[in-house]
Amino acid sequence: QEDLFKNVVSHAKEYGFIFPSSEVYDGLSAVYDYAQNGVELKKNIREYWWKSMVQMHENIVGLDAAILMHPTTWKASGHVDAFNDPLIDNKDSKKRYRADVLIEDYAEKLNQKAEKEIEKAAARFGESFDRAQYETTNPRVMEYLSRKKEILERMGRSLGSGDLDDVKALIEELEIADPDTGSRNWTDVKQFNLMFGTKLGASAENAMDLYLRPETAQGIFVNFLNVQKSGRMKIPFGIAQTGKAFRNEIVARQFIFRMREFEQMEMQFFVKPGEEMKWYEYWKTTRLNWHLSLGLGKENYRFHDHEKLAHYANAAADIEFNFPFGFKELEGIHSRTDFDLKAHESYSGKKMQYFDTEENKNYTPYVVETSVGLDRMFLAVFSNSLKEETLEDGSVRTVLQLPSVLAPTKAAVLPLVKKDGLPEVARRIIDDLKWDFNMAYDEKDAVGRRYRRQDALGTPFCITVDHQTLEDQTVTIRHRDSMKQDRVNISELRGIIENEVSM
Ligand code: GAP
Repeated sequence: QEDLFKNVVSHAKEYGFIFPSSEVYDGLSAVYDYAQNGVELKKNIREYWWKSMVQMHENIVGLDAAILMHPTTWKASGHVDAFNDPLIDNKDSKKRYRADVLIEDYAEKLNQKAEKEIEKAAARFGESFDRAQYETTNPRVMEYLSRKKEILERMGRSLGSGDLDDVKALIEELEIADPDTGSRNWTDVKQFNLMFGTKLGASAENAMDLYLRPETAQGIFVNFLNVQKSGRMKIPFGIAQTGKAFRNEIVARQFIFRMREFEQMEMQFFVKPGEEMKWYEYWKTTRLNWHLSLGLGKENYRFHDHEKLAHYANAAADIEFNFPFGFKELEGIHSRTDFDLKAHESYSGKKMQYFDTEENKNYTPYVVETSVGLDRMFLAVFSNSLKEETLEDGSVRTVLQLPSVLAPTKAAVLPLVKKDGLPEVARRIIDDLKWDFNMAYDEKDAVGRRYRRQDALGTPFCITVDHQTLEDQTVTIRHRDSMKQDRVNISELRGIIENEVSM
């Protein structure tokens, strides 16, 4: 698993998908740049989301709100007062950690111990093994799991009530040590606000303190009536948006999983009060199906229903994905009630109600939100697609089996040799197809090596132009996953590619 993750990071760099930000200055922690192939893959994921959310739903429209918003927005949304993580410093090493992450890691270790016991028993009992029964009858497994639950519940309660002394006490009781240095010499636990601040205005006295948005959702809430009125939208309807969000994360690890600057794809669905649970269930199912449509494997997804809810929510669930470091949150679906609209009404003094013509009355809609991280989607798709295959002749090939619809380049055209007019034919094929598909040209190295390079980039097709092409207008088309080659007429190429890569 760890090796797979290392491979993911190095493949992303070597093949021009992701570079550390400002790498010449040794990078900036938890900030990354998308390179020539990464930017295409990321754009294709965004488009796939946008098409299925906006283009396919008559009652969902798009928005592109600014990153900078009036600072009162973040007072109203609760971010100024409550968007905090509990922070703890190590007095010896001066290293900084999230207290809840240290406790969660401890709980995860208990979980792993339970898993080990379960695996051992499964091997012993074979076919007749009943996992659920074992979990509730084996004393050791029960002890590990109940201890884990107890610890997480206590942490949740303490954080929920703001009792940070108890969080510190828990770290001490569990004898949790600094994961890097082993020292247990901690400072007090403090709340740390995750929003990045900046200033608007030239002179120091008049400058206005602003924040870089920590979520895109608030741009949708404050525009709710603008969109509803100008678009003559009728409830239920949605507003979708993709864009950058910023969080000064304390723990920045796991590559692009947790970044300080990242991109979200969010949709707020405005519904009649009382109907929110129906729509919450609808969006849970619809969003899971969207993920499944990419074909990364049903077994790699699971729901995690939240027991502890944020102050604005009456129901919340994550769609978790099996990343190289285990199941982690990929998307959140939240029933946010009328909390945000009511808060903006109260802070702005402007009514944010909807006039329902059928019921002939005004009300503040309830909101069901779907929120997925674009970078996390990228990591899910990329890490799941990276494969090392041993071929029949014993050689190993690296292949990025991306869903074709998301692949950065759809087809590479390769003249067998750099002469005899073959490059010219290859260029003509590209010119004919490049408006519709992202195409690549490659004439360097032996054709086998060129195939391997396109495999590593995730290109679904390689089209080879050879001397026979000059005689009969046919080329070979090679399929990335099966490596099968077919001889087809140039005029058939468009249809073949279209069929494979269209949404
Ligand atoms: N508007 C709701 C909201 O922002 P969230 O659970 O805080 O909810 C939604 O974030 C999604 O954004 C997450 O499921 C995750 O995919 C992504 N996300 C959050 N923080 C992130 C970070 N630091 N780096 C990358 N993606 C992040």
